[in-house]
Amino acid sequence: MHATSVRRLRLGAAFVLLTYLILHFLNHALGLISLEAMEAGRWWFLALWRGRLGTLALYGAITLHGGLALWLLYQRRSLRMPAWESAQYGLGLLLPALLASHVVGTRVAWWQAGTEDRYARVLMVFWVLAPERGAWQMVALTVAWTHACIGLHHWLRFRPWYPRLAAWLLAAALLLPAAALAGFVAGGREVMALARTPGWTEALGQASAPPDRTEAAALVRIRSGFLDAYLGALVTVLAARSVRALWQRRRSIRITYPGPRVVTVPVGFTVLEASRTAGIPHASVCGGRGRCSTCRVRVGRGREHLSPPAEAERRVLARVGTAPDVRLACQTRPVRDLTVEPLLAPSIAPADALGADVRQGHESEIAVLFADLRGFTRMAEHKLPYDVVFVLNRYFETVGTAIRDAGGITNQFTGDGVMALFGVDAGPEAGCRQALAAARAMVDGMAALSAELAGDLPAPLRIGIGVHAGPAVVGRMGWGESFYLTAVGDTVHVAARLEQATKDHDAELVVSEEVARYAGADLAAFPRHDLAVRNRAGRIGVRVVARVAALGAVLPSRG
Ligand code: FES
Repeated sequence: MHATSVRRLRLGAAFVLLTYLILHFLNHALGLISLEAMEAGRWWFLALWRGRLGTLALYGAITLHGGLALWLLYQRRSLRMPAWESAQYGLGLLLPALLASHVVGTRVAWWQAGTEDRYARVLMVFWVLAPERGAWQMVALTVAWTHACIGLHHWLRFRPWYPRLAAWLLAAALLLPAAALAGFVAGGREVMALARTPGWTEALGQASAPPDRTEAAALVRIRSGFLDAYLGALVTVLAARSVRALWQRRRSIRITYPGPRVVTVPVGFTVLEASRTAGIPHASVCGGRGRCSTCRVRVGRGREHLSPPAEAERRVLARVGTAPDVRLACQTRPVRDLTVEPLLAPSIAPADALGADVRQGHESEIAVLFADLRGFTRMAEHKLPYDVVFVLNRYFETVGTAIRDAGGITNQFTGDGVMALFGVDAGPEAGCRQALAAARAMVDGMAALSAELAGDLPAPLRIGIGVHAGPAVVGRMGWGESFYLTAVGDTVHVAARLEQATKDHDAELVVSEEVARYAGADLAAFPRHDLAVRNRAGRIGVRVVARVAALGAVLPSRG
C-alpha cells in the first residue's frame, strides 16, 4: 500500500480514537460534580460507543491504527528519528500493554460475563481494592493523551491558522486531562467514603455482577493472549526488519555529502534515512512526510539514475519553485551511488518550511491586490518629467489612501503599479472584503482625480485591478533602509496575472472565485472565465468586473 494512503487511513482512525479519548476525559471530569453525574455521563458515553456503529468504529480504529503503525515500523528503513517522533512512536507502542487490563476488566468483562462496569465499581477497584491499578490507569491515560497531542500538533502545524490558535489549543490540551484526573480523584474519594458505609460494598457487588472464578480465569487468559499476540507482532516486525537489513546489505550504495563525507546504505533507503543513519544533521520539519520541503537536497553525480519524483513530491517542489536538480531527501530512494548537498540548515522551523529564503516570514492566507494605470506610459511620453512625477504622486496618494482606509497594507509602488496585502492579521475573509472595498474606493478616487486634473490630462485616468486570495509567505524582507513587509508565493503571482487580465477584458477589476468565496460576495452576475497562469497546473476561475461601480449591490456590508 502507498505510504500516503497508509498515513491517511491511520489519521482517520486516529481521529476516531481522539474523539473517544476526549469524551472519556469529559466523562471522568464529571466526577468534579458527583459520582452520580459520572454515571449519568457514562450512560450517554456507552450509548455512543457500545452501539453497533460505535463498537465498529472504535475497534476498527484501534485495529487499523495499531496495525498500520506496525506496518510503518516495518517500512521505515532507519529507526533514527527526531525526538518528537521517537516519543510519539514509543508512547503509541506502549499503549496496548498499558490499556489491556483496563479494557479486559471493563468492556470484555461486560461482554463475556455481563459485568456492569459502572464508575462506582471501577473506582472501587482503583481506589480501594487495588490502588496500584489506579495509578497505572492514570499513567495510561497520560500516555494516550500525550501520544495524541504530539500527533495532532505535528499534523496541524503547517496549517496557516494554527499559530493563531496554538495557545488556545495548548490550554485545552492541558485543561482537559487535568479536569479528567481531578474528576477521577474526586470520584475516587467519594467511592472511598461510600465504601465505609455498612452494606454499600456488598450492594455494589450484587448490582454489578462481577465475574465468577471461572469467568475471571477466562478474562485473565484473554488478557494474556492479547498481550502475547501484541508482543509477538512487535517482535515479528523487528525480526522482519533485521532480515530485510541483512538481505539488503548485500546491495548497498554510497551517498556522498559535502565535506566530502561518504555514507554507505542499503538500496531502498531514502537520502534522509541515510543522513539519519550516519548522524548527519538534516532538516526535516515534517518528519519525512513530504509536506514541508525542508529536507531538499541538490543532487549531483548519479542524478540520471533516480526515478522521477512522484506526484506528492512534484507538487511540493513546484510550490517552492526549485531547480530541476533539487529533490526531497525524504522521498528520494537512490538505487546507484549519488552525490547530494542538503540545502537548508537543520534548525529551520515550520514557519520557514515552504519558502525559498523567508526566515523572517510565516505562511498565512491573505488577499493580494495588484493595480496598474492604463496607458500611462504612452501618456507620459508627451509630458514633462516633473508633470509625470506630479501626476504619479497624486495617483499613489489616491490609491494608497484607498488601500489604507480599507484596512490593507501598501507594499510596493513600481512604475505606475501598486501591490497591496489584505487580511495579514484579520484573516482571508476580512482581507477579501477589504480588498474589494479598496478596489471600489480606488476606482472612485481615480474618477475624482481625473476630474480634478481634467485640464492636464488628455483622457481620464483608468486603472486595472487584480485580486486573488490564498496562502502566501508573509514576512519582512529586504536590506538596509529598504526593509518592508511583503508576501511571496503562488497567490502573489496569480494576483499579478489577474491584474494583467484586466487589459485583455478591458475591465476595471478581475477577481478570482476564491476572493468572492472568502468575501461572501455573490459575483454570479459577472462573466466567468478560466485563466491559465504560467508555471501553474490547472486554470483559475475568475469573475470579470467591467465597471467596479456595479459591485456596490453585491458587496457584503461587513468590514
Ligand atoms: S522532511 Fe518534510 S518534505 Fe522531507
